[in-house]
Amino acid sequence: MYKPETGLIHTGNEWNETRAVVPPIFQTSTYYAPDDPADYSKDSVTPNAPFFYQRHGNPVTNQAAAIIAELEKTEAALLGSTGMAAISTAVLAHVKAGDHVIAQNIHYSAVNMLFNEMLPAFGVEVTRVDQINNAAFEQAVRPNTTLIYVETPSNPTLEITDLAFIGALGKKYGAITMCDNTFSSPLNQRPHELGIDVVLHSATKYLGGHSDLTAGAICASKDFIEKAWKKLIILGGALAPMDAWLLLKGLRTLSLRMAQINSNALALATWFESQKGIKKVLYAGLPSHPQFKLAQRQMTGFGGMLCIEVVGDTEDEQFEHAQAVLRQLHLFSNAASLGGVESLAVHPTSMWGIRHNQERKAQTGMNDGMIRISVGIEHSDDLIADFQQALSTIAI
Ligand SMILES: Cc1ncc(COP(=O)(O)O)c(C=O)c1O
Repeated sequence: MYKPETGLIHTGNEWNETRAVVPPIFQTSTYYAPDDPADYSKDSVTPNAPFFYQRHGNPVTNQAAAIIAELEKTEAALLGSTGMAAISTAVLAHVKAGDHVIAQNIHYSAVNMLFNEMLPAFGVEVTRVDQINNAAFEQAVRPNTTLIYVETPSNPTLEITDLAFIGALGKKYGAITMCDNTFSSPLNQRPHELGIDVVLHSATKYLGGHSDLTAGAICASKDFIEKAWKKLIILGGALAPMDAWLLLKGLRTLSLRMAQINSNALALATWFESQKGIKKVLYAGLPSHPQFKLAQRQMTGFGGMLCIEVVGDTEDEQFEHAQAVLRQLHLFSNAASLGGVESLAVHPTSMWGIRHNQERKAQTGMNDGMIRISVGIEHSDDLIADFQQALSTIAI
């Protein structure tokens, strides 16, 4: 096992059977069968067989998967075409009709749909709990609870789930635990080391890092990965050859990008705290964060995601202020997604389509004065200056 900086460059290189230092893109849907039909039969059922058929596996995908598994300290990893392909495949590889799942009140929006619509339609019950309340998770456990699913820090409110508690809870009641680790990246948080069974990623974000691909990762034991692979070939969410190649290229610089992103985000969050136009700053790395001690215990860096709430006498005025700031920013593009080299800022209640849904806003802790920020690798002085001029337009 290498240190992360080394593994990002060298782990998985055995999957590159060519003499090219950078592996070629295996842009092919199929491969010649070996001469011996017995070998062909074996390939057809071997998880991630690299030279059988694209939906079954691809050598560059395997190279990137080896790196991600090593970063997350799990036995193996399986990559999919998007974060949602990985998440839905992992969940559907485990739950069956009659099971009960515990999840948080706040999850990434498509994960909410998976739990609110798809699982109940297949006879799986889901209980949602407040992620900062450990007792609520335990109270929700039933005899048929088979999965506890968490995401930390949460999107966009940056609340922290106690991973060591959840890992132990799963073991106590015989339920598998899964954590979406997208917001942190494995360089800042390794849920498996804290007892979580399955770690999930939208590799579209920090792992790829350049907003030029979609991908997802399931990191778990070899047994779970084999089960998940069997589901992936049914559900069909294999990672495309070009995206696998881009992901591998993006991974090479993950450690450099995360170091710069962690430091930029902390500088920006700290600066926001002294600004008159800002009512609240949500960032796991600030001592003012209500769960700062827990964040310090389970994270080694605090990532590039933060959320600010601008001032205003009413929520409508806060909305107008947030829109004015977004319009005035030059370096922060107003766009969905996160985790790229470029800084982004977005209005979360608009992006999720819940601006006029008070119930959903109360449940998720969101309001119309919020702006979610994904900090990139630019210079922090320029990022602060950009917000300074944008905040001046709301003339507080
Ligand atoms: C925390 C989190 N998990 C999962 C996803 C889904 O990833 P993808 O868009 O790659 O399917 C996202 C996407 O924004 C996300 O923010």
